[in-house]
Amino acid sequence: MRIAVRTWLAVLLLAVGTSPAATPPKAHTANAVTAAKPPGAAIASAHTLATQAGLDIIRTGGNAFDAAVAVAAVLSVVEPVSSGIGGGGFFLLHDAKSGRDVFVDARETAPESATPAAYLDKQGGLDRDRATNGPWSAGIPGLPAALVHLSEKYGRLPLRTTLAPAIRIARDGFEVYPRLEKGYASRRAVMERYRGTRAVFLADGTPPVTGETLRQPDLARTLERLATKGFDGFYRGDVAEKMLASVREEGGRWTRDELAGYRVREREPLRLKYRDWAITTAPPPSSGGVALAQILQVLEGWDLAKLEPAQRTHLIVEAMRRAYRDRTIYLGDPDFVKVPVARLTSPEYAAGLRASIHPDRALPSALLSGQPAPLEDDETTHFSIIDAEGNRVSATQTVNLTFGSGLVPPGTGVLLNNEMDDFALKPGTPNAFGVMGFKANAPEPGKRMLSSMTPSWIESEEKLAVIGAPGGSRIITQVLLAILAYDAGLAAQPVAALPRFHHQWMPDAISAEPGALDAATVEALKAMGHTINAGESTWGNLQTVTWDKRSGALDGGTDPRNPVGRADVLLAPAK
Ligand code: DON
Repeated sequence: MRIAVRTWLAVLLLAVGTSPAATPPKAHTANAVTAAKPPGAAIASAHTLATQAGLDIIRTGGNAFDAAVAVAAVLSVVEPVSSGIGGGGFFLLHDAKSGRDVFVDARETAPESATPAAYLDKQGGLDRDRATNGPWSAGIPGLPAALVHLSEKYGRLPLRTTLAPAIRIARDGFEVYPRLEKGYASRRAVMERYRGTRAVFLADGTPPVTGETLRQPDLARTLERLATKGFDGFYRGDVAEKMLASVREEGGRWTRDELAGYRVREREPLRLKYRDWAITTAPPPSSGGVALAQILQVLEGWDLAKLEPAQRTHLIVEAMRRAYRDRTIYLGDPDFVKVPVARLTSPEYAAGLRASIHPDRALPSALLSGQPAPLEDDETTHFSIIDAEGNRVSATQTVNLTFGSGLVPPGTGVLLNNEMDDFALKPGTPNAFGVMGFKANAPEPGKRMLSSMTPSWIESEEKLAVIGAPGGSRIITQVLLAILAYDAGLAAQPVAALPRFHHQWMPDAISAEPGALDAATVEALKAMGHTINAGESTWGNLQTVTWDKRSGALDGGTDPRNPVGRADVLLAPAK
């Protein structure tokens, strides 16, 4: 058994050795004797300035939830390509004082105008421009409401303090980095349709270039309003009126009541057991937790560490295939549709799925071709936080695709999301990530679109890892592989660096990063009937923090695919 575990580890580590070149992140470990509470705080996020802001808030006496507000807001400023206050997100929290876990759902909602017919072109096909660009692609934003909710209900510092770093960085600017420059270039044609967007990104007449400073004075003012007026600073009054006017000017329809009526939802997180781990993760309207529960419970039937790489990969892929099929059919907003969570996540159901897996033959998905390949899109952002009191935050936030809808209502600095594409706008037609859906995920007024965002943590008596990632439909499999790697004994940084593979039922092919599957494994999988796109470009941006309760070591891992990310540890002063 020991040897087998080490063999798998060796395979994983070998793979890590061939992972994409990247600047090694700065992660520290700290050793302390007591395991009752972490010896300090740890934060991993996709941007150094966000991690720094969070740690500064902890230094000023804030808790993990205050730090989360600061990190989320700074990411909204420095990663407009990925997330922002014009978008939404999920925040999984552990409140050490009450011992309670809660899932704060700040997902965008559909406006009443968003009927399925509104997204069809003249031939009855999906109007992809409407689905992904401009006002029709945007749901009512949820992130500002989440920041207010987190601060008022769980934080101990005022929003004026926790939003201060984001306001300063929006006003004074930050250095443009290659991913932002590249993302802008890929969305330029859409973004430059809108005068409010041009005012932000073409302020000096040219698109953002790596190394120059991007200032967003309107966004700074909008954040200031949020800091002083709370919910009403965004959802009512000046900012709201400017958003309504711009959506109208560009041909869309939002109402005052839809903005003023937006509410975050507090939901029970989804919990499951895998081997010796208790996993806490995202419930619907995320599909992530349900899929994770299905896949892990199917896999629990085998001792993965004892298997050859090809056999192990085959079983993991077959489990992924089945979970993504169920996602397509059953998952949606639980406030609108009955999602059979208990049945889908039951051990009996997993046993049935397991029994349907042939040990060495791929089961072809019902349709083998004709599905568009998913977009290459690594936007959305995740951050993970642990503090010295034992509080935790696992948060994933997004505007959906690169730079969301591309629309910034003039005078607000708020880049609106294009999350409407996450609905099954046309039943059975794949969205930008190649995933599709039917009735359960059809748009309805006020409904939340199905998500793959899977903020999670995995905990045993001895260890804890807070984990999450962006990547659209590939989020779930990134979190899954990270859990398997952490279970196999990998530390935070190798977990974040691990090369990835993915299968989502349709298209019926395994996608693999360079170095994820060696040549012999690829050949063996092909012989089992799998189609493999090996050596695809890389994807994801996983951020994790870990705590070893026995040694007291805190650690962080930031995805080396994103060189501006940072994981850092701040030790509490000795008492
Ligand atoms: O909620 C979701 O599942 C998507 N809107 C997330 C988008 C995303 O991760 C973009 N990055 N690839």
